[in-house]
Amino acid sequence: PLTAKVNGSDCLEIGGCDVTELVQQFGSPLYILDEQSVRTACQQYRDGWQKYYPGESLVIYASKAWSCLAVCAIAGSEDLGIDVVSGGEILTAIKAGVSADKIYFHGNNKSVAELELAILQGRGSANAKNCRIIADNWLELENIATIASSLGKNVPVMIRLTPGIECHTHEYIRTGHLDSKFGFDPNQLDEVFGWLSKQSAITCIGVHAHIGSQIFEQQPHKDLAGVMVEWYKLALSHGLPVSEINVGGGLGIKYTEADDPQSIDEWVKNVATALKIACDAHGIAYPRVISEPGRSLIGSSCVTAYTVGGNKTVPGIRTYISIDGGMSDNPRPITYQSQYRAMIANKMSAPMTETVTIAGKHCESGDILIKDAQIAAAVPGDILVVPATGAYNYSMSSNYNRITRPAAVLVNNGEANIIIQRESYHDLLRFDRLPQRLIK
Ligand code: LLP
Repeated sequence: PLTAKVNGSDCLEIGGCDVTELVQQFGSPLYILDEQSVRTACQQYRDGWQKYYPGESLVIYASKAWSCLAVCAIAGSEDLGIDVVSGGEILTAIKAGVSADKIYFHGNNKSVAELELAILQGRGSANAKNCRIIADNWLELENIATIASSLGKNVPVMIRLTPGIECHTHEYIRTGHLDSKFGFDPNQLDEVFGWLSKQSAITCIGVHAHIGSQIFEQQPHKDLAGVMVEWYKLALSHGLPVSEINVGGGLGIKYTEADDPQSIDEWVKNVATALKIACDAHGIAYPRVISEPGRSLIGSSCVTAYTVGGNKTVPGIRTYISIDGGMSDNPRPITYQSQYRAMIANKMSAPMTETVTIAGKHCESGDILIKDAQIAAAVPGDILVVPATGAYNYSMSSNYNRITRPAAVLVNNGEANIIIQRESYHDLLRFDRLPQRLIK
């Protein structure tokens, strides 16, 4: 939970910092990340597994939610590993100081260069450790085998499977059903395990599945635990040296009052219990369990602060209030019809009597951050805060309309540090080149 309160000036304070003062100092829009809240979420996952699961466990942060040095360093300092999906995310995790053997590399079309990058981490050191690779398909297994043998490495690999488990979430963020671009079809498992048992440059360390994101129900992850233990047992029967089951991420968070997610503790208890029961039923030793939360680790720990601009009332229909950001810093409403709520950070005790539509500044009618938000009466210059923007906001941000990406500031105990600098116009132009014949 956010370390937030209302201070004597009726302003919102996060991590001991007054949000309106942060905007004065760092400008807006501004992502404000509460360090303590991220650490608490990491600890809740870690402690949950220790409490409810008799075997070993490792929590890895799904850095696609927000990959940057500071967030990876915080996760690393809480003993978490990192889930990465690209060369860029691998480098970010490594530069943040995370040990390569705690980095798990995902993706359905990893390039040869990215695979080499993952496999070459730790080169030269006495106990060189490379990243773990979650193999998604046959081409990738063959590529890993070729690269590993040519580099004289042995690569630890997990096999990703599509479990065919439905869950109720937005179609774009559902990944577990059989018609998915990710992972092997479980019907191919015998063949995959048979192939792996003949490889000398690949060590199969376990199985992986991820069923989707922003999930509130308990049953899908319970069902997942059951099928994963069956796959794991099949790998053992092929003589593979497996020791890990990776159950993916997916726990939802509260964006609006209508959302009612499980707590982290409840989620871990549910999955741990289902895994334990399945292992006992099959008579197998408890494997090491990896879980890879993204949204639930970082989502609720950040707010975005905007400055209110002009407004427009369409008589009898609605009032639009414009802010100085929008779909470039938070593409989730226009992409997934995601709902958010908002508050006026400098009028925290004012009654929230206005129903207004919060409009972004992009040149596109659909750039609406919140339809029919309930907020206090706002005037230009007020600071509007949107909570729960830590996951898939900065990481999915763009420069649409050549708008500069916002800065991000990390707050803790009254201290504020920039973790991502605001982009400048110079940054925007850095990759543009003007061919000589176009220069006047
Ligand atoms: N592991 C794998 C293999 C994943 O694909 C994902 C998310 C996660 C873990 C983390 O899931 P989480 O705990 O965050 O639910 N951009 C979308 C979400 C896409 C999720 C992609 N995969 C959104 O803004 O809702």
